[in-house]
Amino acid sequence: MPIKQIDHGSKEYRQMVELRNEILRKPLGLAFKQEELEREKDDILIGAFEEDKMLGCCLLTRVDKNSVRLRQMAVQNNLQGKGVGATMLNYAENVARDAGYKNMVMHARKTAVGFYEKLDYKVTSDEFEEITIPHCIMEKRLC
Ligand SMILES: CC(C)(COP(=O)(O)OP(=O)(O)OC[C@H]1O[C@@H](n2cnc3c(N)ncnc32)[C@H](O)[C@@H]1OP(=O)(O)O)[C@@H](O)C(=O)NCCC(=O)NCCS
Repeated sequence: MPIKQIDHGSKEYRQMVELRNEILRKPLGLAFKQEELEREKDDILIGAFEEDKMLGCCLLTRVDKNSVRLRQMAVQNNLQGKGVGATMLNYAENVARDAGYKNMVMHARKTAVGFYEKLDYKVTSDEFEEITIPHCIMEKRLC
């Protein structure tokens, strides 16, 4: 399963937005706003592929010199639980380390906390609501 960085505005980026809409937004009755996508221009965009099909995606947004935020982690519905997410997160951590970041942080959906805990992330906040559902902050030291 090739995992690679993709360019903002590319064909792969359009696939990514479509996948994120299907998995992360539509089930909540929400959609992306153009301004939200414009803000991703400087992010590190990551996709997992099988030939031309995107199996999963995530992105990394700089917080400061030391920390980067994992966002928009999504795997195709029929492929969840088969290792795609863990492989992609491992790749994202390596990219973040190579870029000099020391901490990964995220706003994790409550329903995904168990997934991140398996990969050594720790909950570091109380629960809060974001895009209508419960989240909490999770973090991991990368080095
Ligand atoms: C959460 C998500 C990204 C995980 O990716 P995935 O490919 O399904 O996960 P993997 O198959 O790599 O799972 C790795 C391990 O975590 C476990 N796991 C996966 N999803 C889990 C969840 N939601 N809760 C608890 N454990 C989970 C798996 O059982 C597996 O355990 P094992 O190593 O003991 O076999 C994916 O299921 C998904 O897209 N979910 C819907 C969208 C979502 O919630 N995104 C996260 C937003 S913060």
